[in-house]
Amino acid sequence: MKTKTVIIRNSKKNLEFVASLLIKGEVVAIPTETVYGLAGRADNSKVIRNIYKIKNRPFSNPLIIHYKNIEEALDSIIIDKRAKIITSKFWPGPLTIVARKKNNYVSDSATANLKTVAIRVPSHPDLKTLLHLLDFPLAAPSANIYGKISPTCAHDVKEELNGKISTILDGGKSRIGLESTVIDLTENKTKILRHGSITELKLKNILGDIEYNNKVKKIKSPGQVLSHYKPNKKVIIDAKKPITNEAWLGFGPIPKYFKGPALSLSKNRCLQEAAKNLYSMLRILDKKKSNIIVIQKIPKKGIGIAINDRLFRASSN
Ligand code: TXA
Ligand code: MG
Repeated sequence: MKTKTVIIRNSKKNLEFVASLLIKGEVVAIPTETVYGLAGRADNSKVIRNIYKIKNRPFSNPLIIHYKNIEEALDSIIIDKRAKIITSKFWPGPLTIVARKKNNYVSDSATANLKTVAIRVPSHPDLKTLLHLLDFPLAAPSANIYGKISPTCAHDVKEELNGKISTILDGGKSRIGLESTVIDLTENKTKILRHGSITELKLKNILGDIEYNNKVKKIKSPGQVLSHYKPNKKVIIDAKKPITNEAWLGFGPIPKYFKGPALSLSKNRCLQEAAKNLYSMLRILDKKKSNIIVIQKIPKKGIGIAINDRLFRASSN
């Protein structure tokens, strides 16, 4: 039977209600500062299996575990000097660290039976409040069907998961709009597994040498799968100007001559604004009458590196 999916606002009463659902072992959609997450208690394998099932995600792709504070998060891993340094600088916030898992209560299904675990302490105020109402951490992948675009508002979660979950907690539009940066601390060599708003440059300034690991043979992160973050339409990137018969996603003002469906990620060419708008605008253009979405070239600096990474994957077959 299909479940009725409702969006509820972020009142204190509703946060308590969502906490009660999570305690009972339900899977619910929650806001984070990056993208919306599909959350369940990290200590229960049945709940975790349900998350994978709802997302249609392969069981081999581990989830991120969200903690209420730095102490609890670091207590779940074999501590490493690098982890202490970067988490004191960037948590709470959009950084995920992969480190060696300590023997603890996080379900092995959540970490795909690996000896490592991905953890983060989010900064979204509603999620922080929610985590403080719970005595377990939350496993939460992005709240999209596997391979599709992550949702950045409650309405977009409903579009993805209608009938599959009972409750979506509305915490407004995600402030950042792209998934967290994932950094791998499991080996001596520090690696970035997924680009995000905490850039490689910012991390290098603190940790020194880091490599970006997108050419690995064995995939360590599903975000590394080439074809990912995909709309239904074909996507063309790095375009100079709109031509005809296409849906245009600009970076800067939309040229007056173009009469097709068009949106601008940021009229003032602000990369932060573009990141925040990217996924929701791709969803809007995906519904327009045209066969392709053509996207204007976006500078590969700062968060523009993460934007280009997602767009490259969205445009890959
Ligand atoms: O911003 C975010 O990180 C969002 C919000 C909801 O927190 N979550 C998110 O989760 O993007 P997900 O499942 O879509 O992406 C998790 C990423 C994947 O690339 C996954 O492979 C990686 O983290 N990951 C998790 N555990 C790992 C591990 N043990 N080793 C390597 N990569 C891991
Ligand atoms: Mg995801």
